[in-house]
Amino acid sequence: MGKINKSIAELVGRTPLLELVNYEKKHDLKARLLVKLEYFNPNQSVKDRIALAMVEDAEKKGLLKPGYTIVETTSGNTGIGLAAIAAAKGYKFRVYIQDNVSKERFQVIQAFGGETIKLSEEPAIAKVLEETNGDFVAAIDALRKEVLSKEKDIFFVDQVSNPANPAIHEATTGPEIWEDTDGKVDILVANVGTGGTVSGTGKFLKSKNPDIKVVALQPGPNSLPSEANPEPEEITGVHPFEGIPKERVPATMNLDIYDEKFEVETVEAYTAAREAAKNDGILVGTSSGAAIYAATQIAKRPENESKTIVAVLPDTGLRYLSTPLFG
Ligand SMILES: Cc1ncc(COP(=O)(O)O)c(C=O)c1O
Repeated sequence: MGKINKSIAELVGRTPLLELVNYEKKHDLKARLLVKLEYFNPNQSVKDRIALAMVEDAEKKGLLKPGYTIVETTSGNTGIGLAAIAAAKGYKFRVYIQDNVSKERFQVIQAFGGETIKLSEEPAIAKVLEETNGDFVAAIDALRKEVLSKEKDIFFVDQVSNPANPAIHEATTGPEIWEDTDGKVDILVANVGTGGTVSGTGKFLKSKNPDIKVVALQPGPNSLPSEANPEPEEITGVHPFEGIPKERVPATMNLDIYDEKFEVETVEAYTAAREAAKNDGILVGTSSGAAIYAATQIAKRPENESKTIVAVLPDTGLRYLSTPLFG
């Protein structure tokens, strides 16, 4: 029977799992390394899932109505996913983006008809970022209180506190991994930005098998801004969740869900992403490289011999052609 889709909403999710067989051989891994290729989503990232889920949740709750503008702050992928869903559903879209993300992200959102504003261009946000040394949660608070509260017919998506974010991973990403592995999965490796992926996927997998180990990734010390190195090359979309004040951890991150925190440096992520491209022909972004790197180190531990590790790879490498990863 034929199948013709009527909206990109129907193309979100059900992404494939791939075993990196050549990469496994090269690293002499005794564990199976499976990657979930989120770039198979219609706008090439894991964020298509939450974009659709948060919009449809708001429609159901009456928070988003025809004629409204959808607003979000994001390092890029959520903005791209939302811009496309907004275009397909006929809403206006405006996004506030961190200044240092790659220019492709701005271009793609604009191509979907979205408006892009750099965080530094909005005075109320710029002030808070300077005062708090780049606290994203505080910046979002300022946006809500000092900018959006003065406007009408706005739906502020707020992926860092929106429960529809982890919920869609619990409802889709987790079950897909479970089904595609026939339940034979031992370790989940996922990056943490909002924490939606690791919290929702981890929750589902642990509900099926409490012995599944969940590993949450955060950037290593050399990949975060510091006094000595205020502008390091960062892992786009990935933020620390340990070693920072609890109030700065997004509400969407469940700090009880992971068994291990694993730190990855940007250069390690680059190496792994480049190797995966050369060995297995997958072109993925920096955070995907971080997940592959972490999964490799975990696979090499003697206790993990013959285990199955699933690493969630958030986005396409095409979004990094102008960055040091592939530039
Ligand atoms: C490229 C990239 N990788 C990883 C993540 C982290 O995913 P999550 O927000 O579900 O924790 C994000 C989120 O912004 C991202 O944009």
